[in-house]
Amino acid sequence: MSTDTKPRQRIERLRQSRAVILPSMLLCDFGNLAAEVARLEAVGVQALHLDVMDGHFVPNLTYGMPIVEAVRRLTDLPLDVHLMIANPRQYIRQFADAGADILTVHAEIEDNVTEILQDIQRLGIGAGLAVNPGTELQGLEAAIDSCDLFLAMSVQPGFGGQAFNPVALDKLRRVRQQYPTKLLEIDGGINQKTIADARDAGATLFVVGSAIFGQPNYGQAVGALEAQLGEQRAVD
Ligand code: DX5
Ligand code: ZN
Repeated sequence: MSTDTKPRQRIERLRQSRAVILPSMLLCDFGNLAAEVARLEAVGVQALHLDVMDGHFVPNLTYGMPIVEAVRRLTDLPLDVHLMIANPRQYIRQFADAGADILTVHAEIEDNVTEILQDIQRLGIGAGLAVNPGTELQGLEAAIDSCDLFLAMSVQPGFGGQAFNPVALDKLRRVRQQYPTKLLEIDGGINQKTIADARDAGATLFVVGSAIFGQPNYGQAVGALEAQLGEQRAVD
């Protein structure tokens, strides 16, 4: 287990927040990564979401440890790393070493996901369980029990900019009812129209891609989302 206590402190910060908007870096300008992170910090975002795709578990390829490591060097914000990869077991230590605070793996992988979640926790970081829109919760009880964060996907993972699928809301409600203190996150199609429904279903972590990066002013984009949640802006 890692002796680094920072991941636990960063996760605790997320637990204390009623609503955290996590920009999904999938749609950021990677040619200006340092400037993008600085712009997001300047508008007061509280955490970042990093989408790792392997071209196998999902039909898209993004990035791996070097980008997580680069973002870690740029910020002290919590890094929430979403692994859309077929074989996360092989890489969890490397992602933890790269600076992930939370590592989320998918329920749909062909492996023992409960065991992987426990391995992630033994590395001293948070373990997340992601569930695709078409995946039922039945049969996932042990995995849900073992995770620090439950991620309900509201799109089929792979690409930003897709339409919100409300099937995620029912899953959030069910997990919230059974686990009042677990971190609940939603990812896919979150915008001004959908974010309040996600909050009402129990989410406190909201991953947002196109509704931030498709806008010229990140502060206004984040502010408009927070306004839907009745949150005050800390920074303009
Ligand atoms: C989808 C990714 C998301 C995505 C969200 O595969 O996991 O994090 O980038 O983007 P929007 O908010 O545009 O749906
Ligand atoms: Zn994601």
